[in-house]
Amino acid sequence: MRGRTALMALAGAVAVAGYAARRAHRFPLDGRTALITGGSRGLGLLLARELGARGCRVVVCARDGDELHKAVADLRDRGVQAHAVRCDLRDRDQVHAMVADAVSRFGGLDIVVNNAGIIHSAPLDSLGEAEFDDAMRTMFWASLYVTQETRPHLGGGVLVNITSIGGKISPPHLLTYACAKFAQVGLSEGLDAELARHGIRVLTVVPGLMRTGSPRRAFYAGRPGLEYAWFSLLAAVPPVSMNSKRAARRIVNAIRDGRHHLTLTLEARVAMAVHGVAPSLTQTLLRAANRVLPGPGAEGPTSGLEAAPRADRWGMRLLTRLNDRASRDLNQLPGAEHGRVPEPRDSGRHARR
Ligand SMILES: NC(=O)c1ccc[n+]([C@@H]2O[C@H](COP(=O)([O-])OP(=O)(O)OC[C@H]3O[C@@H](n4cnc5c(N)ncnc54)[C@H](OP(=O)(O)O)[C@@H]3O)[C@@H](O)[C@H]2O)c1
Repeated sequence: MRGRTALMALAGAVAVAGYAARRAHRFPLDGRTALITGGSRGLGLLLARELGARGCRVVVCARDGDELHKAVADLRDRGVQAHAVRCDLRDRDQVHAMVADAVSRFGGLDIVVNNAGIIHSAPLDSLGEAEFDDAMRTMFWASLYVTQETRPHLGGGVLVNITSIGGKISPPHLLTYACAKFAQVGLSEGLDAELARHGIRVLTVVPGLMRTGSPRRAFYAGRPGLEYAWFSLLAAVPPVSMNSKRAARRIVNAIRDGRHHLTLTLEARVAMAVHGVAPSLTQTLLRAANRVLPGPGAEGPTSGLEAAPRADRWGMRLLTRLNDRASRDLNQLPGAEHGRVPEPRDSGRHARR
C-alpha cells in the first residue's frame, strides 16, 4: 500500500516537473513573423492560417503565382497579415532573394517552416534520375538553402522541418520521396544539435498520411491511373490518414510548446517503433505490399490532375471524398471556382513540369 502511494507521488512529481519544464520553454506566438515554404496550398496554407490565427504575421512562398495570390487573399480574409513571394526553392539565388524580401517585409523572422514538397508514385523502372534529382532538390537542398539563408535572422527563433514517415521507413513506389525525406530527417535532427548553441530551436515533424488534398498534385508514372488509385485511397481513409487541420494545430502547438520532435498519427509512431526493434519484419511487410501494387508501365510522370479522372471512372471519387473536400478547401485545384472540382478537360494544364 505504502509502495503504491510512493509510486503515485512520484508519477505526480514527474507530471508537475514536466509541465513546469514545458511552460519554461514556451514560445509565445503572438506578434511573431513566420515564413512558410509551400504555403500556397495544402498543409502549408493550413499552417499559415493557424499561425495567423494565433497572432503571427505570415510570409508564404511557392512557384505558382495565381495560387499564391489566392492563398494571400484567403489569409487576409481571415484577418491575417500576409505576404507572398514567388520562389523556386531549388534555386539558391531565388531563395536568397525570397528571404531578403520576407525579412524586409515585416522586419525580421521568428519562425521558418520548411514545408514545400513534391511526390512521385511509381515503380523504380518508371523513375529516372530527373525525378530523384527533383525530389532531392525540392525537399533536401531547398531545406538546406532556406536554413542557410534564414539562419542569420533566426537567433532566438524556431526552424521547423516537415519531414515524413517516408523519411523513417522507405515504402515501395515512393523511392524518390523516401530518399529525399531520409536526407531531410538527417538534416533536421543534425541541425537541432548544432543550432542549439546559436539559440535556434529545430523542430522535426514526422507526419504519417494527412488529408491535404495533395494526391491530385502528385505525379504518377508507369500506370498512372492505378498508381493514383492506390495512393489517393490510402491518403483519404481515416484512420490511416489524419485530418490535416488537426495536424496543423498540433504542429503549431509543438512550435509554441518548445518541442524538438513531433510524430503525427498513431500509425506512424507504431510503424517507427516496430521498424526500430524489428526492421526485418517491416521489410517483409513492405515486400508483401509491393506485390499488390501496380506493375510497371510505359507512361512517364503524369500529374494527379490528369490521372485522377481515370480513377474517378472506377468509382474512386466515392472513396476519396474526404480528400477531395480538402482539395477544394486547400487551394489544390487550379482553375476551380470555390467549391467546384474541375472537369477532366481542364485538368491537364499542369500535367508535366
Ligand atoms: N499530405 C501528406 O499525407 C503528407 C504526409 C507526410 C508528409 N507530408 C509533407 O508535408 C508537406 C506538405 O505536403 P502537402 O500534402 O501539403 O503538399 P502539397 O499540397 O503538394 O503542397 C506542396 C507545396 O510545396 C510547394 N512547392 C513544391 N515544389 C516547390 C518548389 N520547387 N519551390 C517552391 N515551392 C514548391 C507547392 O507550390 P508550387 O507547386 O506552386 O511551387 C505547394 O505550395 C510536404 O513536405 C510533404 O512531403 C505530407
